[in-house]
Amino acid sequence: MLIRVPNVLSAEQTEQIIGALESANWDDGRHSAGYLSAEVKNNNQLADQDPVAFELGKIILVALDNNPLFTSAALPLKILPPLFNRYSSGQTYGPHIDGAIRPVSGTPHRLRTDLSATLFLSSPDDYQGGELIIQDTLGERSIKYAAGDMVLYPGNTIHHVRPVTQGTRLASFFWIQSMVRDLEQRTILYRMDNAIQELARNDTAQSVLVDLAGIYHNLLRQWADT
Ligand code: NI
Repeated sequence: MLIRVPNVLSAEQTEQIIGALESANWDDGRHSAGYLSAEVKNNNQLADQDPVAFELGKIILVALDNNPLFTSAALPLKILPPLFNRYSSGQTYGPHIDGAIRPVSGTPHRLRTDLSATLFLSSPDDYQGGELIIQDTLGERSIKYAAGDMVLYPGNTIHHVRPVTQGTRLASFFWIQSMVRDLEQRTILYRMDNAIQELARNDTAQSVLVDLAGIYHNLLRQWADT
């Protein structure tokens, strides 16, 4: 399940973050990659413990905390401090899978990467290429959102970032450990929550009945044996 979370950041917040990133200390992205990913990774990142990343990450974490769609879709238990990356001049990140467990830098804690998130900071008009391509069982999905929008996708997918052939692509990315580890269960809960919220807004509509019936059968498929 890929979920677009629109307007995680306002235009003012996005501009503030981009402004701060212009003079930040960009590092080679390979430094934070595992040995397999390092072979296909060519971008720049702020180091885990960069104080600028920490301060900008706080803006994102507060925004996420106040975002009902994010909360419903991710059911977050822990969020890794947001990281920041930059692609320009043909930079790219080839097909890879994110590590299942990430250390929380500077602490003894670890986090299981149930969900990956990319929060687009640059406007799509400001660069060519740079699509995030996510492979799932239905094929490839190409993601390039407006500044301030975020995609949430399962941590177990193979994905890549197409070369940025013109301009600069700035984004924040991070991982989430969910209270509900299983993707299918989390998806059912998300859809159920959507249906309930829709019922709360309107008198029961046909679309809501279809959704609730779907949820019933999906729960049955999960838990029934014949
Ligand atoms: Ni990745």
